[in-house]
Amino acid sequence: LFSRPCTFMLGAAKLEQLPDSAVPEVCFAGRSNVGKSSLINALTGTQGLARTSNTPGRTQELNFFMLADRLLICDMPGYGYAEAPKERVKRWTSLVKSYLRGRPNLRRVMLLIDSRHGIKDNDHDIMTMLDEAAVNFQVVLTKIDKLKAAEVDAVLARTASDLVKHVASHPEILLTSSEKGKGMAEVRAAMAALALP
Ligand code: GTP
Ligand code: MG
Repeated sequence: LFSRPCTFMLGAAKLEQLPDSAVPEVCFAGRSNVGKSSLINALTGTQGLARTSNTPGRTQELNFFMLADRLLICDMPGYGYAEAPKERVKRWTSLVKSYLRGRPNLRRVMLLIDSRHGIKDNDHDIMTMLDEAAVNFQVVLTKIDKLKAAEVDAVLARTASDLVKHVASHPEILLTSSEKGKGMAEVRAAMAALALP
């Protein structure tokens, strides 16, 4: 699957602009700057496919990428960015909620958590929404290159216990570093299992 090209399809700022497609979809969600766009680039081996930045709030639309005609990948704008204008937060929240609740082909949400910070209140809010909408989500810890091995073990244990109350959470937590290419095989395998044969 991942040896085939992945191409940008469209960016949606409104519900009406979402692609009308029957292909299974996986979306990447998480707080601003957690590494969503970087992970998509690392997974697909395409630098610059999804735009990344040091400045939180880089991704402002729902960006869709088609992988080998078998899986749609959605890169979401991040949440929890303190300096974001209130109007934008409101628009984002309503778009994301409608997308997450009413997307028939959405197979799983990859919910990215910065391994240095762990799960925050606004992550729990999104998870609760996914629980209520019965949308399966899987936690991906990012930037593990920033931690020592013992710290990774600790954040993994804490994250697992934080997830117990979320009924829609997938039991396997993935550990990744887009920068060092760690955990890519595991994320790819999880995605391949959701793609068209
Ligand atoms: P928004 O679109 O603003 O929500 O951000 P995002 O979640 O798409 O994050 P993005 O991929 O743009 O990355 C944010 C910053 O984190 C960039 O400076 C990346 O270089 C850095 N980054 C991403 N992944 C890693 C990683 O695995 N390790 C390290 N050390 N830095 C990373
Ligand atoms: Mg981004």
